[in-house]
Amino acid sequence: MTEPTTITVEAGSPYDVIVGRGVLAQLESVLPPTVAKVLVVHAPPLADHAQALRERLAGRVEVLLAEVPDAEGAKRVEVAAFCWQIMGQTDFTRTDAVVGLGGGATTDLAGFVAATWLRGVPLVQVPTTVLGMVDAAIGGKTGINTAEGKNLVGAFWAPAAVLVDLDLLEGLPQNEILAGFAEVVKCGFIADTAILDLLEADVTRATDRTSDEFRELVERSIRVKAEIVAEDFTDVGRREHLNYGHTLGHAIEHAERYRWRHGAAVAIGMVFAAELSHLVGSLPAEQVDRTRRILASLTLPTGYPLGRWKTLLATMQRDKKARAGMLRFVLLDDVAHPRVRGGIDESMLFAAYQEVGE
Ligand code: GLY
Repeated sequence: MTEPTTITVEAGSPYDVIVGRGVLAQLESVLPPTVAKVLVVHAPPLADHAQALRERLAGRVEVLLAEVPDAEGAKRVEVAAFCWQIMGQTDFTRTDAVVGLGGGATTDLAGFVAATWLRGVPLVQVPTTVLGMVDAAIGGKTGINTAEGKNLVGAFWAPAAVLVDLDLLEGLPQNEILAGFAEVVKCGFIADTAILDLLEADVTRATDRTSDEFRELVERSIRVKAEIVAEDFTDVGRREHLNYGHTLGHAIEHAERYRWRHGAAVAIGMVFAAELSHLVGSLPAEQVDRTRRILASLTLPTGYPLGRWKTLLATMQRDKKARAGMLRFVLLDDVAHPRVRGGIDESMLFAAYQEVGE
């Protein structure tokens, strides 16, 4: 598998996700032909890649660099204002483009800047983490945080293209890669069981960024997301399935003051969701065991302190996905058969949590 793969997201105006090694070289060809300036929004560790892009496009497109804080530190209104300032001072027009180069936080910010400048300019996302490649950069959700919570300000803004260049994962710590795999596992349980089979067959190869299996897992996960986003771009229906494991996961991230990797919190959230699916629904017990086994093989956590339940419950009730305080969970009737359920008795939630608590 050496040729790039193109996965088209049929959302509003369709866009391509191009997956492969070295596909960053295709940046110029995916930029709209009108583009004279590009603002590359990147985190400090990607400064060399941003500079290389500037040199590669020199003489054809003017490249402006906006170096922003790493990780969640990027998703602040002051950082967005810093980008808007660069755009204002350089007469950045609606026919220019923003490029988001980095992990999920960087591409969320870059997307938000693109969505808001002049009411929207073209955007190309270049994710550099597994989480970004299979989730954050794919579906057109953009945003920043406020003091009151994560992602409270944002917009749906579809990119013109997404370049998933697997070479950009080089140098990333393996535990960062493994944390990104929580979203891959999620895609397996909600939609594509071949993902689970690949992970079970040989987890070492599956998580080796140079293997064909790794690439296949990334592509399969992108296809799952692309298909759901195409049906429900603005998150009013089926897109909620992508939240499998995230209701408790977000509460754990909050309890851990956002110092945990997202994937670690979602991993525990998926064990909880699987236990709940078994208790109140029809998910067979062996699929709950399978959830734990696969996550453990990725060295992801599957348990959390029992004494934290009350705090977690209170946080989940404040979650923006809860409706009028009523908790909603994505559960599985079986593998690849997700559905959203609300109104589950608190005693059932606690019973499921007891299976997770340690
Ligand atoms: N990460 C969940 C979504 O894109 O809807």
